Amino acid sequence: GNTPDRSGLIVADATSVDDPIPGAPGPVTHGIPVVGASFADGELLARPGSTAYVQVLPAETRSDVNVIAELPGRNTDNVVMAGAHLDSVIEGPGINDNGSGSAALLETALKMAKLKPENTVRFGWWAAEEQGLVGSADYVTGLSAKERGRIAMYMNYDMVGSPNSIFMVYDADESTFEAPVPVPAGSAAIEDVYESFYTKLGVPYDDTEFSGRSDYEAFINAGIPSSGLFTGAEEIKSPAQQAIWGGTAGEAFDPCYHAACDTYANVDLHALEVNSDLIAFAMLTFAYSTESVNG
Ligand code: PHE
Ligand code: ZN
Ligand code: ZN
Ligand code: ZN
Repeated sequence: GNTPDRSGLIVADATSVDDPIPGAPGPVTHGIPVVGASFADGELLARPGSTAYVQVLPAETRSDVNVIAELPGRNTDNVVMAGAHLDSVIEGPGINDNGSGSAALLETALKMAKLKPENTVRFGWWAAEEQGLVGSADYVTGLSAKERGRIAMYMNYDMVGSPNSIFMVYDADESTFEAPVPVPAGSAAIEDVYESFYTKLGVPYDDTEFSGRSDYEAFINAGIPSSGLFTGAEEIKSPAQQAIWGGTAGEAFDPCYHAACDTYANVDLHALEVNSDLIAFAMLTFAYSTESVNG
């Protein structure tokens, strides 16, 4: 039984820990061993009459920033957006997740800087995706209805160079996957640009679902046509997928997903190269016309 007191201490009666954390190596309270044979101190604390004090630090508030860059086109009311999350999990450096998408998008932005396209292009490097899509959600919900209405479409790039990669495109066809929110009309036209590029290169691709696990979520919730590229995370490559894309069946698309080994060596440079070209190609295509998306 745990009794929070007003100073933020939780006082645990060590002889009656009744809610151990599932999967922990022994009974623990708030991540700190209290009783259990594997913990020397815990055994001491388990003696009748002893009491454990577990200090729970107060919740912390931190500030973070999205980085937004815009290149004005001739038409400033038709904004083509692409985004990638800039943060990583605390466990590792986050080079595939998501240095890959962030770097590819940055390269496109730098190369486009000297253009004056028809449409306005806007790049977003999102903060705190790993904390629950915080940066992109804050960005979209913080826009006025008028500002949201200027955004013609959104393209998402999260994990585009996985080491055991397959090429995937977010799928607008709701009969293929059951999307948690309706995929906005026009999204299929973005998908088509990606798929025709892969086809031209002779690169096989597959559809992937809008699972709600990346920064497109706020955009599709706002009804903005969206798609994006993805080369796989913790899911295991099947023998059929190995036959199509090579790599290793039975292993994750990214065995270093959210781990310390997500370093520069964790990137498939071929996948990153193909997808970097496609990220630029799609941005350039829609910078000159979004008619296929918005009519
Ligand atoms: N958004 C996930 C992450 O950053 C990666 C992911 C994207 C997983 C899409 C599944 C589908 O950890
Ligand atoms: Zn991640
Ligand atoms: Zn990610
Ligand atoms: Zn498709």
